[in-house]
Amino acid sequence: MLSTVPTVRAPTTRRVRFDWLGRDTDVWHHTLPEFGAAANAISLLMPHAEPYVIAMVRAGLDEGASDPELIDRAQVLIEQESAHFKAHRDFNRSLSSTSSVAKRLDRFGGWIFAKLARRSTAFGVAFAAAFEIVAFCSARWAEAGLRQYFTGADERAATLFLWHLAEEIEHKGIAHDVMQAHPNARKKYPLALLVAFATLIGFTIVGGLSLFCRKRHVFNPVRWFRLVAWGFSFAFVVMPVASASVAKDFHPDQLVDPPWMAMWLTEFDPVSNTMPLWTDAGRCSSDEQRTDTATTAA
Ligand SMILES: [Fe+2]
Ligand SMILES: [Fe+2]
Repeated sequence: MLSTVPTVRAPTTRRVRFDWLGRDTDVWHHTLPEFGAAANAISLLMPHAEPYVIAMVRAGLDEGASDPELIDRAQVLIEQESAHFKAHRDFNRSLSSTSSVAKRLDRFGGWIFAKLARRSTAFGVAFAAAFEIVAFCSARWAEAGLRQYFTGADERAATLFLWHLAEEIEHKGIAHDVMQAHPNARKKYPLALLVAFATLIGFTIVGGLSLFCRKRHVFNPVRWFRLVAWGFSFAFVVMPVASASVAKDFHPDQLVDPPWMAMWLTEFDPVSNTMPLWTDAGRCSSDEQRTDTATTAA
């Protein structure tokens, strides 16, 4: 059963180690391959998107922040995002080794963020804040349908995405605070929100469909219906929050955290840098099955 007890804790850095040796990172979700394809598209974007967010938060601090507490909190955000994109980069290497489409999408993601990097720091800081809002909404959406989306998935791949989403909840307000401390970023927020939303959702749709259309399942109308339904359900979660986030008095801390992911993060082992694998039953597996457990299973 999913816990309903919220856990409020300060963000911390977890450099989770994953072993992809012998895993099929292309088709890791045999029950819902269309979901796996969309998630892989997101994974391919992260080693480009998250370094941009990190660079913009750093630049924003340099230009606007004097509060030592904000600087310390931003450092945790930077370390968490750094751990995320490195974990996705490892996953993507395995994915690209078997998929030329993934290689092309990786290059496309790099091209998008090279273009964004030419914009001002003020825009970039606002983009980082907007990106974090979309990431938080993604976590809220995923937790609401945890079993629906991840039952039947490879436990290791599911754990990668869920760990990432869980930490997005944990640091949801930090980029917003960096934006507020910057002299010019706040007024760029509405445009940055549109660009962040279009970039993340657009890349997920284009990349997910590109990866999915190579599969034999592409002719199954039920899978297409599901993709459309997920799109609407995600829009139902993200649109109200995104609209509210434009208001001057909005702060991400006003958003209620989904409870299970925060509790799950407490299972992180800082000695081995591992998480217990998420299982179909919606709970953590035993300590013997952790993210670094070597395996030859496909
Ligand atoms: Fe992240
Ligand atoms: Fe984040």
